[in-house]
Amino acid sequence: MRRKLVVGNWKMHGSRAANAGLLAAIVGARPYGAEVAVCVPCVFLGDTAAQLAGSEVQWGAQDVSAHAQGAYTGEVSAAMLAEYACRFALVGHSERRQYHAESDELVAAKAQAALAQGITPIVCVGETLGQRDAGLTEAVVARQLAAVAQALGARLADIVLAYEPVWAIGTGRTATPAQAQSVHAALRMQLQTAGDAAARVRVLYGGSVKADNAAELLAMPDIDGALVGGASLKAAEFIAICRAAG
Ligand code: 13P
Repeated sequence: MRRKLVVGNWKMHGSRAANAGLLAAIVGARPYGAEVAVCVPCVFLGDTAAQLAGSEVQWGAQDVSAHAQGAYTGEVSAAMLAEYACRFALVGHSERRQYHAESDELVAAKAQAALAQGITPIVCVGETLGQRDAGLTEAVVARQLAAVAQALGARLADIVLAYEPVWAIGTGRTATPAQAQSVHAALRMQLQTAGDAAARVRVLYGGSVKADNAAELLAMPDIDGALVGGASLKAAEFIAICRAAG
């Protein structure tokens, strides 16, 4: 049985003062039935780790370098994230793929780098509106997942996967539960190629998840949680989503 997981992706939002209030509210609303985590800007990891240590709320980063160390100005290694006890690192978020030209192969290398330091990569896949309209949704996400599967082999079972249709991110336009379920089911079929990955890997949905649509999405058999952007910055919304997950 896969325990549901709700992850807040703060993106490039927050301040030390605002974060402290938000995290206090999230921790204060426990216990949760689902696993709960926040992925924060790297510069806030120290504060976040200090505030969440010993609570049931976990934390992580929004990206990780594919390199172990070296002359890579601006990058942060998985070993550095591990020093801050990160449980998760997002890799291949569509905003990284789009604005930083991250390829499927680079995303796979990042997932590998995270796992090597005991950090669970949350691998994001998803199609653009043009690709959906052209009937390419399943081909696109299959290609994105295949690169990771090839790099990880049996360790594919140790990732979290997130389906985030690009057209649903920050637009208020959510995939219907049926649309999301159909892509999640296809992804789970593909996971069958690696050991027990199909049974173990949690496949999260992301894209305009809100308190009022979370329950119907999370009721789908292959939706194992949510990756939440904008709504994760509002304590009451995020807490309601976490509660909808279990
Ligand atoms: P929104 O929830 O703001 O649509 O963002 C989704 C997302 O990109 C989470 O990673």
